[in-house]
Amino acid sequence: MKDEMMEYYDSVSSSFEEAYFADTIYCEELKSSMLKDLKMIENVLGRVKEGSLLDLGCGTGYWANFYCNSADIDVTGVDLSENMGELFRRSVSGANFIREDIFRFLESFDYKYDYILISFVLSHYDIEDAISILRSAKKRLNPGGHIFITDSSWSPEREQVSRKQFYKRSLSGSVKKLYRTKVELDKIVHDADIEADEAYFGAAFFNYVLR
Ligand SMILES: C[S@@+](CC[C@H](N)C(=O)[O-])C[C@H]1O[C@@H](n2cnc3c(N)ncnc32)[C@H](O)[C@@H]1O
Repeated sequence: MKDEMMEYYDSVSSSFEEAYFADTIYCEELKSSMLKDLKMIENVLGRVKEGSLLDLGCGTGYWANFYCNSADIDVTGVDLSENMGELFRRSVSGANFIREDIFRFLESFDYKYDYILISFVLSHYDIEDAISILRSAKKRLNPGGHIFITDSSWSPEREQVSRKQFYKRSLSGSVKKLYRTKVELDKIVHDADIEADEAYFGAAFFNYVLR
């Protein structure tokens, strides 16, 4: 599955960020929620002014503009896809990039961080793996640190244009995508033994701040 994931993201890397512009969403309610929910995510990430930040499944670094607003943030991105990583390296100057599987990274590196961002990654994983990622990430937090999780919500608006689970396919790979309800997400967070300081669940995207 990880090879398929890597091949999928290697092949879509150059057009990946188009998904954030909502141009291909043919449901007006969902589209306006997307824009509102993306603003919420930007506001939360924009609060990070200093410290160390680990971006797990960092992709192209789309969110880097919102958390890299200060030279006092030490950023490390981890991703399996070389092509996504190449774009991350270019867009986040001064950041470290580690090409690695996030499960292996969380188990084998001892570093701790003030912030850990996991954006649009958990929706590729079944419940048990999502819990495992959160549990391991919590062990990599400095005292007082926070984990930001953000991803796609399952909502009546989403239901108008999508199925709850499906495979995204490119010419050379495929990834599973699982939309989650608030109840499902809260259970994942609870079962990972993590507290939510903030829990925003929009029709398009959710954004939780965990500790
Ligand atoms: C939907 S993209 C999100 C990228 C970025 N976080 C964002 O929000 O724009 C998912 C990313 O997670 C990476 N990814 C998924 N599973 C991974 C794993 N087990 N190890 C490393 N990277 C992974 C993929 O390669 C891809 O770049």
